[in-house]
Amino acid sequence: MISEWLNDPNTGKYVVFITLITFGAIEIFGGHYKGTKRTKDDWIMEFLSLFLLTLNSYIVLFGILYLGNILFPTSTNSLADLSLWLTVPLYMLVDDLAQYWYHRSAHEYDFLWKHHRPHHAAEEMGVMVSFRNSFLYYLFLPNIWWVAISVFLGMIPATVIGLIVKQLVVTSTHSTFKWDEYVYRIKFLSPFMWMFERIIVTPAFHYAHHGKSKADNISDPNGNFGNAFTIWDQLFGTAKFTRKFPTEFGLQTDPKDDWSSQLFYPFIKSKKEGSEIGKDFKREKTTSLDAIEIELEAGTHLWCQCGFSKNQPFCDGSHHGTKHTPIAFEVKKKRKMRLCNCKHSKASPFCDDTHLELKREN
Ligand code: FES
Repeated sequence: MISEWLNDPNTGKYVVFITLITFGAIEIFGGHYKGTKRTKDDWIMEFLSLFLLTLNSYIVLFGILYLGNILFPTSTNSLADLSLWLTVPLYMLVDDLAQYWYHRSAHEYDFLWKHHRPHHAAEEMGVMVSFRNSFLYYLFLPNIWWVAISVFLGMIPATVIGLIVKQLVVTSTHSTFKWDEYVYRIKFLSPFMWMFERIIVTPAFHYAHHGKSKADNISDPNGNFGNAFTIWDQLFGTAKFTRKFPTEFGLQTDPKDDWSSQLFYPFIKSKKEGSEIGKDFKREKTTSLDAIEIELEAGTHLWCQCGFSKNQPFCDGSHHGTKHTPIAFEVKKKRKMRLCNCKHSKASPFCDDTHLELKREN
Protein backbone atom coordinates (compact mmCIF):
# COMPACT_ATOMS: atom_id res chain seq x y z
CA MET A 1 0.00 0.00 0.00
CA ILE A 2 2.69 2.53 1.09
CA SER A 3 4.92 1.40 -1.78
CA GLU A 4 2.05 1.89 -4.26
CA TRP A 5 1.43 5.31 -2.82
CA LEU A 6 5.10 6.30 -3.01
CA ASN A 7 5.33 5.09 -6.60
CA ASP A 8 2.56 7.39 -7.80
CA PRO A 9 4.04 10.76 -8.91
CA ASN A 10 0.65 12.39 -8.18
CA THR A 11 0.96 11.62 -4.46
CA GLY A 12 3.36 14.55 -4.02
CA LYS A 13 0.83 16.90 -5.62
CA TYR A 14 -2.01 15.64 -3.39
CA VAL A 15 0.15 16.12 -0.31
CA VAL A 16 0.99 19.66 -1.43
CA PHE A 17 -2.72 20.49 -1.48
CA ILE A 18 -3.51 18.67 1.77
CA THR A 19 -0.69 20.60 3.54
CA LEU A 20 -1.94 23.84 2.08
CA ILE A 21 -5.53 23.19 3.16
CA THR A 22 -4.45 22.12 6.67
CA PHE A 23 -2.32 25.20 7.32
CA GLY A 24 -4.92 27.39 5.58
CA ALA A 25 -7.61 26.02 7.92
CA ILE A 26 -5.42 26.75 10.97
CA GLU A 27 -5.03 30.33 9.73
CA ILE A 28 -8.75 30.77 9.04
CA PHE A 29 -9.84 29.35 12.42
CA GLY A 30 -7.01 31.26 14.12
CA GLY A 31 -8.71 34.46 12.90
CA HIS A 32 -5.84 35.53 10.66
CA TYR A 33 -8.06 36.75 7.84
CA LYS A 34 -10.14 39.03 10.02
CA GLY A 35 -8.92 42.50 9.17
CA THR A 36 -6.61 41.16 6.46
CA LYS A 37 -4.56 43.68 4.47
CA ARG A 38 -5.07 41.68 1.29
CA THR A 39 -6.75 43.44 -1.59
CA LYS A 40 -8.84 41.84 -4.32
CA ASP A 41 -5.73 41.93 -6.56
CA ASP A 42 -3.77 40.00 -3.92
CA TRP A 43 -6.35 37.21 -3.75
CA ILE A 44 -6.59 36.93 -7.55
CA MET A 45 -2.80 36.97 -7.81
CA GLU A 46 -2.34 34.18 -5.24
CA PHE A 47 -5.01 31.78 -6.52
CA LEU A 48 -4.16 32.31 -10.18
CA SER A 49 -0.47 31.95 -9.44
CA LEU A 50 -1.12 28.62 -7.66
CA PHE A 51 -3.12 27.45 -10.68
CA LEU A 52 -0.34 28.51 -13.10
CA LEU A 53 2.33 26.79 -11.00
CA THR A 54 0.31 23.56 -11.08
CA LEU A 55 -0.27 23.93 -14.81
CA ASN A 56 3.44 24.59 -15.46
CA SER A 57 4.40 21.56 -13.34
CA TYR A 58 2.20 19.24 -15.40
CA ILE A 59 3.35 20.72 -18.73
CA VAL A 60 7.01 20.29 -17.74
CA LEU A 61 6.41 16.79 -16.32
CA PHE A 62 4.63 15.48 -19.41
CA GLY A 63 7.07 17.31 -21.71
CA ILE A 64 10.15 15.78 -20.04
CA LEU A 65 8.62 12.28 -19.96
CA TYR A 66 7.58 12.50 -23.62
CA LEU A 67 10.85 13.96 -24.93
CA GLY A 68 13.01 11.90 -22.56
CA ASN A 69 11.52 8.66 -23.81
CA ILE A 70 12.21 9.69 -27.41
CA LEU A 71 15.67 11.27 -27.00
CA PHE A 72 17.15 9.21 -24.14
CA PRO A 73 15.20 5.92 -24.09
CA THR A 74 17.95 4.03 -22.24
CA SER A 75 17.83 6.50 -19.34
CA THR A 76 14.13 5.93 -18.61
CA ASN A 77 13.85 4.58 -15.03
CA SER A 78 17.63 4.09 -14.98
CA LEU A 79 17.89 5.05 -11.27
CA ALA A 80 14.77 3.13 -10.19
CA ASP A 81 16.74 0.39 -8.41
CA LEU A 82 18.85 2.69 -6.27
CA SER A 83 18.24 2.65 -2.52
CA LEU A 84 16.02 5.35 -1.00
CA TRP A 85 18.93 6.13 1.33
CA LEU A 86 20.72 7.42 -1.72
CA THR A 87 17.92 8.85 -3.85
CA VAL A 88 16.10 10.84 -1.13
CA PRO A 89 19.23 12.91 -0.17
CA LEU A 90 20.16 13.17 -3.87
CA TYR A 91 16.71 14.45 -4.80
CA MET A 92 16.41 16.86 -1.88
CA LEU A 93 19.92 18.34 -1.97
CA VAL A 94 19.95 18.97 -5.73
CA ASP A 95 16.44 20.43 -5.50
CA ASP A 96 17.25 22.81 -2.66
CA LEU A 97 20.66 23.89 -3.96
CA ALA A 98 19.11 24.76 -7.35
CA GLN A 99 16.32 26.63 -5.58
CA TYR A 100 18.81 28.56 -3.43
CA TRP A 101 20.65 29.93 -6.48
CA TYR A 102 17.49 30.58 -8.47
CA HIS A 103 15.95 32.46 -5.55
CA ARG A 104 19.15 34.38 -4.82
CA SER A 105 19.50 35.32 -8.51
CA ALA A 106 15.91 36.55 -8.41
CA HIS A 107 17.04 39.10 -5.82
CA GLU A 108 20.31 40.04 -7.54
CA TYR A 109 19.36 40.25 -11.22
CA ASP A 110 16.85 42.74 -12.50
CA PHE A 111 15.06 40.51 -15.00
CA LEU A 112 14.35 37.73 -12.50
CA TRP A 113 13.56 40.19 -9.69
CA LYS A 114 10.63 41.54 -11.67
CA HIS A 115 9.17 38.03 -11.72
CA HIS A 116 9.81 37.33 -8.04
CA ARG A 117 8.77 40.78 -6.83
CA PRO A 118 5.07 39.84 -6.37
CA HIS A 119 6.22 37.39 -3.67
CA HIS A 120 7.66 40.29 -1.67
CA ALA A 121 4.82 42.69 -2.36
CA ALA A 122 2.65 40.78 0.15
CA GLU A 123 2.10 42.97 3.18
CA GLU A 124 1.28 40.06 5.44
CA MET A 125 2.36 36.44 5.68
CA GLY A 126 0.12 33.44 5.10
CA VAL A 127 0.21 30.11 3.27
CA MET A 128 -0.85 31.63 -0.03
CA VAL A 129 2.17 33.97 -0.05
CA SER A 130 4.33 31.05 -1.18
CA PHE A 131 2.36 31.11 -4.45
CA ARG A 132 2.96 34.69 -5.48
CA ASN A 133 5.34 34.75 -8.42
CA SER A 134 4.94 35.53 -12.08
CA PHE A 135 4.02 32.93 -14.67
CA LEU A 136 7.55 33.03 -16.17
CA TYR A 137 9.19 32.66 -12.74
CA TYR A 138 7.33 29.41 -12.31
CA LEU A 139 8.04 28.23 -15.84
CA PHE A 140 11.80 28.41 -15.20
CA LEU A 141 11.61 27.23 -11.58
CA PRO A 142 14.35 24.58 -11.30
CA ASN A 143 12.27 22.51 -8.87
CA ILE A 144 9.54 21.66 -11.34
CA TRP A 145 12.15 20.60 -13.92
CA TRP A 146 14.02 18.53 -11.33
CA VAL A 147 10.78 16.79 -10.26
CA ALA A 148 10.15 15.88 -13.90
CA ILE A 149 13.73 14.67 -14.48
CA SER A 150 13.67 12.62 -11.25
CA VAL A 151 10.41 10.95 -12.26
CA PHE A 152 11.84 10.23 -15.72
CA LEU A 153 14.91 8.63 -14.11
CA GLY A 154 12.65 6.46 -11.96
CA MET A 155 13.25 8.15 -8.59
CA ILE A 156 9.50 8.41 -7.95
CA PRO A 157 9.43 7.42 -4.23
CA ALA A 158 12.35 9.80 -3.47
CA THR A 159 10.57 12.60 -5.34
CA VAL A 160 7.33 11.98 -3.44
CA ILE A 161 9.12 11.92 -0.05
CA GLY A 162 11.13 15.03 -1.01
CA LEU A 163 8.01 16.90 -2.11
CA ILE A 164 6.20 16.05 1.14
CA VAL A 165 9.09 17.22 3.35
CA LYS A 166 9.64 20.34 1.30
CA GLN A 167 5.98 21.28 1.21
CA LEU A 168 5.72 20.93 4.97
CA VAL A 169 8.70 23.24 5.42
CA VAL A 170 7.70 25.81 2.78
CA THR A 171 4.05 26.03 3.87
CA SER A 172 4.91 26.26 7.57
CA THR A 173 7.54 28.95 7.00
CA HIS A 174 5.02 31.21 5.24
CA SER A 175 2.10 30.46 7.53
CA THR A 176 0.93 32.84 10.24
CA PHE A 177 0.90 29.77 12.50
CA LYS A 178 4.55 30.10 13.59
CA TRP A 179 5.24 26.76 15.26
CA ASP A 180 8.80 27.67 16.30
CA GLU A 181 7.56 30.64 18.32
CA TYR A 182 6.00 28.18 20.79
CA VAL A 183 9.08 25.95 20.91
CA TYR A 184 11.44 28.91 21.58
CA ARG A 185 9.54 29.52 24.82
CA ILE A 186 10.59 26.09 26.17
CA LYS A 187 14.06 26.80 27.53
CA PHE A 188 15.45 23.25 27.60
CA LEU A 189 14.64 22.78 23.89
CA SER A 190 16.85 25.71 22.97
CA PRO A 191 19.98 23.63 22.08
CA PHE A 192 17.81 21.30 20.01
CA MET A 193 16.35 24.29 18.15
CA TRP A 194 19.87 25.67 17.61
CA MET A 195 20.77 22.46 15.79
CA PHE A 196 17.44 22.31 13.95
CA GLU A 197 17.82 25.88 12.68
CA ARG A 198 21.27 25.07 11.32
CA ILE A 199 19.72 22.46 9.04
CA ILE A 200 16.04 23.19 8.36
CA VAL A 201 14.41 26.52 7.52
CA THR A 202 12.15 27.68 10.36
CA PRO A 203 9.37 30.30 10.21
CA ALA A 204 11.63 32.82 12.04
CA PHE A 205 14.42 32.28 9.49
CA HIS A 206 12.10 32.78 6.53
CA TYR A 207 10.06 35.59 8.05
CA ALA A 208 13.34 37.56 8.29
CA HIS A 209 13.61 37.23 4.50
CA HIS A 210 10.11 38.69 4.10
CA GLY A 211 10.54 41.61 6.51
CA LYS A 212 10.28 45.00 4.81
CA SER A 213 13.86 46.13 5.52
CA LYS A 214 16.92 45.61 7.68
CA ALA A 215 15.96 48.69 9.72
CA ASP A 216 14.07 46.56 12.27
CA ASN A 217 17.30 44.68 13.15
CA ILE A 218 15.43 41.41 12.55
CA SER A 219 14.89 41.24 8.81
CA ASP A 220 17.24 40.74 5.91
CA PRO A 221 15.37 40.66 2.60
CA ASN A 222 18.76 40.07 0.91
CA GLY A 223 19.52 36.95 2.91
CA ASN A 224 17.96 33.64 4.01
CA PHE A 225 17.31 32.40 0.48
CA GLY A 226 17.11 28.67 1.36
CA ASN A 227 13.82 26.90 0.75
CA ALA A 228 14.01 23.78 2.91
CA PHE A 229 17.61 23.83 4.25
CA THR A 230 19.61 26.63 5.85
CA ILE A 231 22.93 25.00 4.93
CA TRP A 232 23.30 26.87 1.63
CA ASP A 233 22.86 30.27 3.28
CA GLN A 234 25.50 29.33 5.85
CA LEU A 235 27.83 28.02 3.13
CA PHE A 236 27.47 31.05 0.85
CA GLY A 237 27.37 33.74 3.56
CA THR A 238 23.73 34.86 3.38
CA ALA A 239 22.35 33.37 6.62
CA LYS A 240 20.80 35.51 9.32
CA PHE A 241 19.59 33.55 12.32
CA THR A 242 16.98 35.17 14.51
CA ARG A 243 14.25 34.05 16.87
CA LYS A 244 12.29 37.25 16.50
CA PHE A 245 9.66 38.00 13.90
CA PRO A 246 9.34 41.16 11.82
CA THR A 247 6.05 43.01 12.02
CA GLU A 248 6.26 44.85 8.70
CA PHE A 249 6.21 43.01 5.38
CA GLY A 250 6.13 44.07 1.76
CA LEU A 251 8.18 46.37 -0.46
CA GLN A 252 9.64 49.64 0.82
CA THR A 253 8.23 51.42 -2.22
CA ASP A 254 5.21 49.74 -3.74
CA PRO A 255 3.10 51.35 -6.48
CA LYS A 256 0.50 48.53 -5.97
CA ASP A 257 0.55 47.01 -9.42
CA ASP A 258 -2.53 45.17 -10.64
CA TRP A 259 -2.54 41.36 -10.62
CA SER A 260 -2.32 40.98 -14.41
CA SER A 261 0.98 42.87 -14.80
CA GLN A 262 2.47 41.12 -11.75
CA LEU A 263 1.58 37.71 -13.15
CA PHE A 264 2.21 38.23 -16.85
CA TYR A 265 5.07 40.74 -17.05
CA PRO A 266 6.61 41.44 -19.64
CA PHE A 267 3.55 40.57 -21.80
CA ILE A 268 1.39 42.89 -19.69
CA LYS A 269 3.06 45.94 -18.15
CA SER A 270 1.94 48.01 -15.19
CA LYS A 271 0.40 51.40 -15.81
CA LYS A 272 1.35 52.62 -12.32
CA GLU A 273 3.80 55.50 -12.30
CA GLY A 274 7.35 54.53 -11.30
CA SER A 275 6.59 50.83 -11.30
CA GLU A 276 9.56 48.53 -11.93
CA ILE A 277 7.31 46.49 -14.19
CA GLY A 278 6.04 49.54 -16.04
CA LYS A 279 6.62 50.30 -19.73
CA ASP A 280 9.25 53.00 -19.42
CA PHE A 281 10.96 51.99 -16.20
CA LYS A 282 14.69 52.71 -16.10
CA ARG A 283 16.91 52.39 -13.03
CA GLU A 284 18.76 55.68 -12.79
CA LYS A 285 21.67 56.77 -10.61
CA THR A 286 20.75 59.41 -8.03
CA THR A 287 24.21 59.96 -6.52
CA SER A 288 26.02 63.29 -6.41
CA LEU A 289 29.59 64.49 -5.78
CA ASP A 290 28.62 66.00 -2.44
CA ALA A 291 28.26 64.97 1.15
CA ILE A 292 24.79 65.14 2.64
CA GLU A 293 24.70 66.81 6.01
CA ILE A 294 21.61 65.81 7.88
CA GLU A 295 20.15 65.66 11.38
CA LEU A 296 19.35 62.07 12.27
CA GLU A 297 16.98 60.78 14.91
CA ALA A 298 18.20 58.08 17.31
CA GLY A 299 17.66 54.58 15.89
CA THR A 300 18.69 52.38 12.98
CA HIS A 301 19.10 53.99 9.57
CA LEU A 302 19.70 52.37 6.19
CA TRP A 303 22.25 54.05 3.96
CA CYS A 304 21.83 53.46 0.23
CA GLN A 305 24.83 51.69 -1.24
CA CYS A 306 23.48 51.03 -4.73
CA GLY A 307 23.10 54.69 -5.73
CA PHE A 308 19.57 54.21 -7.15
CA SER A 309 17.45 55.36 -4.19
CA LYS A 310 15.08 58.25 -4.80
CA ASN A 311 15.51 59.17 -1.16
CA GLN A 312 19.29 59.69 -0.95
CA PRO A 313 21.30 59.10 1.11
CA PHE A 314 18.84 56.54 2.51
CA CYS A 315 17.71 53.23 1.06
CA ASP A 316 14.23 53.12 -0.46
CA GLY A 317 14.39 49.53 -1.71
CA SER A 318 15.57 50.39 -5.23
CA HIS A 319 18.54 48.02 -4.78
CA HIS A 320 16.29 44.98 -5.37
CA GLY A 321 17.35 43.37 -8.61
CA THR A 322 21.01 44.33 -8.06
CA LYS A 323 23.79 42.76 -6.00
CA HIS A 324 23.88 45.75 -3.65
CA THR A 325 22.36 45.85 -0.18
CA PRO A 326 21.92 48.83 2.15
CA ILE A 327 24.27 49.47 5.08
CA ALA A 328 22.50 49.65 8.44
CA PHE A 329 23.95 51.99 11.07
CA GLU A 330 22.93 53.00 14.56
CA VAL A 331 22.53 56.52 15.87
CA LYS A 332 22.55 56.60 19.67
CA LYS A 333 21.00 60.05 20.07
CA LYS A 334 19.72 62.75 17.73
CA ARG A 335 22.67 64.41 15.98
CA LYS A 336 23.98 65.96 12.76
CA MET A 337 25.96 63.69 10.44
CA ARG A 338 27.76 63.93 7.09
CA LEU A 339 26.75 61.00 4.95
CA CYS A 340 28.42 59.93 1.72
CA ASN A 341 26.42 60.43 -1.44
CA CYS A 342 29.07 59.69 -4.06
CA LYS A 343 29.07 56.05 -2.84
CA HIS A 344 32.87 55.88 -2.97
CA SER A 345 33.71 56.70 0.65
CA LYS A 346 35.99 54.21 2.35
CA ALA A 347 34.19 55.01 5.60
CA SER A 348 30.66 54.35 4.32
CA PRO A 349 28.06 55.36 5.25
CA PHE A 350 30.02 58.42 6.39
CA CYS A 351 31.67 60.93 4.09
CA ASP A 352 35.48 60.80 4.00
CA ASP A 353 35.76 63.56 1.35
CA THR A 354 36.48 61.12 -1.47
CA HIS A 355 33.93 63.12 -3.50
CA LEU A 356 36.39 66.06 -3.52
CA GLU A 357 39.02 63.88 -5.26
CA LEU A 358 36.39 62.70 -7.71
CA LYS A 359 35.37 66.28 -8.41
CA ARG A 360 39.01 67.21 -9.12
CA GLU A 361 39.38 64.23 -11.48
CA ASN A 362 36.26 65.23 -13.34
S1 FES B 1 18.11 51.78 -2.47
FE1 FES B 1 18.66 50.29 -1.01
S2 FES B 1 20.82 50.22 -1.18
FE2 FES B 1 20.27 51.76 -2.62
